[in-house]
Amino acid sequence: MADHKEIDQVSGVETTGHEWDGIRELNNPLPRWWLWTFYACCIWALAYWIVMPAWPLISSHTEGFLGYSSRAQLAKSVERARDAQSVYLDRIDAASLEQIAADQELLDFALAGGRSAFAVNCSQCHGSGAAGFVGYPNLNDDDWIWGGDLDAISHTIHFGIRSDHDETRFNEMPAYGRDELLTREEIDDVAEYVLSLSNSGSDAAAAARGEVTFAEQCSACHMEDGGGNYELGAPNLRDAIWLYGGDKSAVVESITNSRAGMMPAWTGRLDEATIKKLAIYVHSLGGGE
Ligand code: HEC
Ligand code: HEC
Repeated sequence: MADHKEIDQVSGVETTGHEWDGIRELNNPLPRWWLWTFYACCIWALAYWIVMPAWPLISSHTEGFLGYSSRAQLAKSVERARDAQSVYLDRIDAASLEQIAADQELLDFALAGGRSAFAVNCSQCHGSGAAGFVGYPNLNDDDWIWGGDLDAISHTIHFGIRSDHDETRFNEMPAYGRDELLTREEIDDVAEYVLSLSNSGSDAAAAARGEVTFAEQCSACHMEDGGGNYELGAPNLRDAIWLYGGDKSAVVESITNSRAGMMPAWTGRLDEATIKKLAIYVHSLGGGE
């Protein structure tokens, strides 16, 4: 059958001689557009093999004239990013905290870096939003124990609080109950007085008795009006913002056993630029002084 070609009666086109159930295949040439596209693809593939890495070899692959590799590309862009950062890092190293805060570009850089350093080093105690927990102060508000200006914050981060560093911030409130400096009744009265400072007391007579004890025992650190003292790390007792809770039993517990919260020193663990970024970041959280 296949040895002599026939012409199809209807279309006048030669057939290939293939036939299925009486249907015969016409031998039309391939469309021009198809052929050209096909040739173009072949040329493209050849050119690609020559210039780009293409064929697998036993232990590597053909490199191609361009020697392109996405790994090298990544390494290059990482290096470029690092170079771009190092310009900023040098400037951060050279600038004071005030200078960083006054330079919008440096400030943005420091805030971004401070935010990520905070997430890694600080959030486990202070919370990811820095809102704190009982015993771990909220750093978003304008209530400070040791001071909220840039230098005070930087000092706290450098040396910690009751940490093992020689220059740590340190102060110890006496444990008035445990060490029997005051009786239970006296502690109860002075707790009522402390609560009355933020208008949350409920026993005016007890508070009046407690006021005397407060002036004798507590005002040296917490100040006469209970407003607190940054130098001594003594919290403000008037503002209804409590590190250890503001209900009567929490206040009695603070007075009975004292608390002595501990924050590690970061100098030596974090580099100077990172501590600067952290100080700027914490200062920016809302309560910076
Ligand atoms: C192990 C827990 C812990 C970690 C980690 C920690 N802190 Fe603290 N931080 C504390 C405690 C506890 C206090 C309050 C101590 C006190 O005075 O009673 C505090 C206090 C502070 C204060 C002073 C707040 C004030 O009102 O004066 C600042 C600022 C501060 N932390 C920043 C940081 C930064 C920044 C980091 C991360 C580099 C960090 N902290 C990591 C536990 C921690
Ligand atoms: C030697 C200084 C000092 C003296 C004296 C002192 N305190 Fe304190 N007080 C502190 C410090 C520092 C803290 C911070 C808590 C901590 O981490 O130990 C504190 C915390 C407290 C708290 C907890 C505050 C909070 O936000 O949860 C209460 C309440 C308190 N003091 C009441 C008193 C009373 C009442 C007296 C007197 C009977 C007193 N203090 C005497 C230093 C002192």
